Parts: sequence; C-alpha cells; structure tokens
Amino acid sequence: MLNFLREEGIRESLINEIISFRNFYKIEEKFEYRIPNPKYNYYGKDVWEEAITALLCGENLLLVGSKATGKNVLAENLSAVFGRPKWDISFHVNTDSTSLIGTDTFENGQVVFRQGPIYECAKWGGFGVLDEINMAKNDSVAVLHATLDYRRIIDVPGYDKITIDEASRFIATMNYGYAGTRELNEALTSRFMVINMPNISLENLKKLLLREFPSLNEDYLNQFAGLFKDLQLKSENSEISTKSVDLRGLLAAINLMDRGLSADKALKLGITNKSFDDFERTLVEDVISLRIPTNLERNEIFKD
Ligand SMILES: Nc1ncnc2c1ncn2[C@@H]1O[C@H](COP(=O)(O)OP(=O)(O)O)[C@@H](O)[C@H]1O
Ligand SMILES: [Mg+2]
Repeated sequence: MLNFLREEGIRESLINEIISFRNFYKIEEKFEYRIPNPKYNYYGKDVWEEAITALLCGENLLLVGSKATGKNVLAENLSAVFGRPKWDISFHVNTDSTSLIGTDTFENGQVVFRQGPIYECAKWGGFGVLDEINMAKNDSVAVLHATLDYRRIIDVPGYDKITIDEASRFIATMNYGYAGTRELNEALTSRFMVINMPNISLENLKKLLLREFPSLNEDYLNQFAGLFKDLQLKSENSEISTKSVDLRGLLAAINLMDRGLSADKALKLGITNKSFDDFERTLVEDVISLRIPTNLERNEIFKD
C-alpha cells in the first residue's frame, strides 16, 4: 500500500510519518485479521494528503460526497495504510446505543458484557467507519457525541467509562447531493475534519477501469470513461437525475460484457435502467449511443 501512495505522488514526509505511526502503535494479534486488504485503491492525491494529515493529527474524518465517490474505498484504504484493524459501524433504524457500545447477556448462566463495535474499536485502537452517519437516530447520536468528544473518553449513562485508545480514529461517511439525503446536525459535524469528496477525474477513472479490466481496449477504455463523464455532466446540468450516474453500475456492466453480453444490453442493466422514468431513460440511451455502437461484442471490447 505504501508503494501505491508513492506512485500516486503522496509526499514522502507523510509516508514517513505513517511508518512511524505504524511502528509506534502496536496491535493485538487477535485483531490482525481486521486490517483490511483492499480490493480497490482510492485514486486522488489531494484527498489522500488531506486525509492522512488529519488522521496523523489525531482528528476524526467526515467524508461527504455523492454516491460512488469512493468514500468507503478511501476509509478502507486508510485503515490499511495506517495498519489498523477496522470496524464497520452502520446506522439504520435499528442501530441504538446497545448495538453500538454493547449489552449484558447471559453466558453459561452468568451475566457477561458483550462488546459492541464502538467499544471494541475504541479499546483496541481500531479505525471505526461510521457509515452513512447522517442516518443515525437520536439514541445513536448521543453515543456518537460521546465517542467523538475531544477528551477521548466515552461516557454514556448506564455504561462504565471507556477510554479511547490513542491509535483509534473514526471515519464517517455521508451521502449528499441527491433527493432523500439527510443533513448532519451541527454539533456532530463540528467534531470532524470534513472532506468534500470530488468526482473522480477522467484520468483516474481510466486508471481505475484499467486496473479492474487490464485487457480493455484502449478505444473502449476511453469511451467508457468518457461516457461516465458525459452522464455526470448531464446530471450536473440538471438534464438527468443522478440515478444513472452510477460508477458501480458501469463497472458491473463491463463485467457483464466480459462474460459475453453485448455492450448495449449490459449498459442497460448497469446504467440506463437505474432510472425509472421513461423520458430520462431515453436521454441516457442517447448519451450511450453516441459512444457505444449497438451489438458491440466482447472481442471488440477486450484484447484477449
Ligand atoms: N476516486 C476514486 N478512487 C477509486 N475508486 C473510486 C473513486 N471514486 C469512485 N470509485 C469507485 O466507486 C465505487 C464505489 O465506491 P464506494 O467507496 O463504495 O463509494 P461511496 O461509499 O462513496 O458510495 C467503487 O467501485 C470504487 O472503486
Ligand atoms: Mg458508501
């Protein structure tokens, strides 16, 4: 991973500080399995440098951006780079303080405390990914306030005080920019350093596609990357919604092409049909047909 950072052009002084961090903070053997081995790399030098600097300074991070801007990929990459075990903590209707911190349960006739992910992460110097934090309900917001407190002690009524390990960091993600996304309350936001996650650049998108599909033809590498940027632009100009601006869908569609489905069909499944509006689907199809011929087959898209 550190070599990847060098390739991305991250300042050597930051890399050295990461190495010092890793040497200084030990980790329990039983949690080594939690150090991620990322499938995807995050591309974007500026964001990397901002995130690394903030974490080195002991700050917690809030990553804000539209869907598929690599928020979770970056969070995972950061725990890998810092060599820390990762806990994923997601916020949904049923997330409450007991599911976050823990609860008393019976084991062999005895009451024992079953630790929740926030507890474990704080105790063992983990990186906690607070996924879609803006969806947190009141009960979990109270826990989050305590967890992100600068005193680094989680003090919630009904529990013993938990001291947060010096190596622990919390990285929250939040989708923003399309209908239905919720705001995050101000007091909680103020406990983070906030990074606005940019849309991936054309150059980095090509890197990503090529890494995923090494045998992609140069021509179609450019066309697929260009197609995604076209859709992004149309959405920014409010000509279409964000539904079809779907990078995950594009990657999945190329994968279907690799399995032999023609390009137009694969793109329908991965991109066009994400919109449920007839008119919008026609607009998206038009964008696609400008770059991708109908009945384009696998042997024209891939080199092998
Ligand atoms: N800058 C980027 N670098 C690497 N991958 C990216 C980037 N932006 C988007 N992606 C890709 O987008 C997809 C979704 O990433 P994810 O982290 O789950 O998005 P988010 O959490 O922001 O919705 C992944 O396939 C990821 O590789
Ligand atoms: Mg996400």
